[in-house]
This record gives sequence, C-alpha cells and structure tokens, in this order.
Amino acid sequence: MRVAVFSGAGISAESGIPTFRDDEKGLWSQYDPYEVSSIDGWNRQPELVWGWYTWRCQLARRYEPNLGHRAIADWENHVDDVTVITQNVDNLHERGGSSAVHHLHGRMFTFRCSDCEQPHDTQLPDLPEPVLEIMPPSCECGGLIRPDVVWFGEQLPDEPWNAAVEAVDAADVLIVVGTSGVVYPAASLPERALELGKTVVQVNLEPTPLSERATVFLQTSASAALPGMAQRLRFLVD
Ligand code: APR
Ligand code: ZN
Repeated sequence: MRVAVFSGAGISAESGIPTFRDDEKGLWSQYDPYEVSSIDGWNRQPELVWGWYTWRCQLARRYEPNLGHRAIADWENHVDDVTVITQNVDNLHERGGSSAVHHLHGRMFTFRCSDCEQPHDTQLPDLPEPVLEIMPPSCECGGLIRPDVVWFGEQLPDEPWNAAVEAVDAADVLIVVGTSGVVYPAASLPERALELGKTVVQVNLEPTPLSERATVFLQTSASAALPGMAQRLRFLVD
C-alpha cells in the first residue's frame, strides 16, 4: 500500500507552533499579517519582514515534533511508501523522522537571494527579545536574502508541486490532516485523489468542505488519529 499525506497547520498546532496571527510579544500586532507574509510587504519593508522571520525561526526551533508527526514517520516501517506533502513551513515532519517531505509553501529555515535566487546558508542571530526591524543580509549580487517560503501574491514552486501531484497519483490512500483546505492550489490535491477513485481519509478537529466527500472523516486530533492508522488501513486497501 502506498500512502500520501497532505498536512496543514493543525498537525503542528499540537507542538505549540503559533499561527502567524499569534504574536507573543505583540510587537507586530499593529501590522496586518499580510504585511509580513506577502511579496508586497517584503518589497515595501524588507526589514520588518526579516525581523518577523528571525523571531519566528527562533520560536520554531524550540518546538518538537508530536505524536502525529512521529506516527507518520513510523508508517514507513509498515507500508510500501509514505510521501508527505505539507503546507507547513516548519521542519517538524523531517524532525519527526519522515524521509520524503515536499513543502508546497516553502521552508522557513532555508534562505535564498531575492534577486538571483541562489540558496544561502544564513545563520540567524539568537535574540533574547524580538526585534521589530532587522536589515536582511545581502547576496554577492547585491540582492537581499529572503526566507524560502511562498508568500501571498507568489506562485507555488514547480518542484514540490509536481512531486505532490505524482505522490497523489501513485498513492492508494491520501490522508488529509489538519488543514482547512481553503488555500488553492494546494487544496485541490484531495479533490484530485477523489476524482481518481483513491481512498481519502480526513483527520481534523472540525469539519471542512472536504468532510462530506472524503471516504472517511475522523473528527479528532492528529495525535489521536494517526498512530497505527496505516497499519489498520492496510487491511482495508490491500
Ligand atoms: N488535529 C487535527 N486538526 C487540527 C488540529 C489538531 N490537533 N488543530 C487544528 N486543526 C485543524 C483546524 O480545524 C483547521 O481546519 O487544522 C486546520 C488548520 O487550518 P489553517 O489554519 O487554515 O491551516 P492550513 O490549512 O495549513 O492553511 C493553509 O494558508 O495561512 C496560509 O500559507 C498558509 O500554508 C498555510 C495555508
Ligand atoms: Zn543574489
């Protein structure tokens, strides 16, 4: 049995990762979230966006993968293939032990030049307190270094998207976990799986537009539903 996983912010919520609207110190609370997570915001105020990401990365390093991430990694010991497609920019799937993870919306711990696109190994400073504005480092070409995430107003990168479509097409089962399913094109992946006649299992604390169409909707948390799930599904799908 081949399993594809499509995950969103809900799976990392149990590790304590705040959504981008939470702001522990309130420093950015006077700004619209769009200002720190859009290409327009970056073009207007790169220092503000870099300050925000520096602090977000620092917070995110403290969080640990939870039972949900670890369960998905453990499935690799029980089924033929497990491919993770995530909308999350954290690295908790990787740290939880998953070997194939495709980040549709990029990764917060990798950086690239905003002009020449070259990847950059940037060490972020350890800050005792959040700093509202920090000047981003520059590339040799003169461009500013930016996080390798997909902002509002930007296209999804081709490579993870193509890998995601391939994984859905090859899968027997798609497990959709912790995503509201409102951000496209990512949200079209479960629809594609259903059209192809795949088994689609949804895990979410709340119903979403997908719930009525999914083969199975489990209204519960990722950490409760995922441990052992692939082992049980194997008997249904094989
Ligand atoms: N277990 C399962 N589901 C959960 C849990 C949990 N412990 N906690 C929350 N959820 C569910 C919520 O019910 C909600 O449906 O997770 C979903 C989270 O939805 P969103 O916050 O909209 O996150 P996501 O779907 O990942 O957002 C997609 O939107 O903000 C942009 O680019 C960003 O990648 C992100 C995209
Ligand atoms: Zn450059």
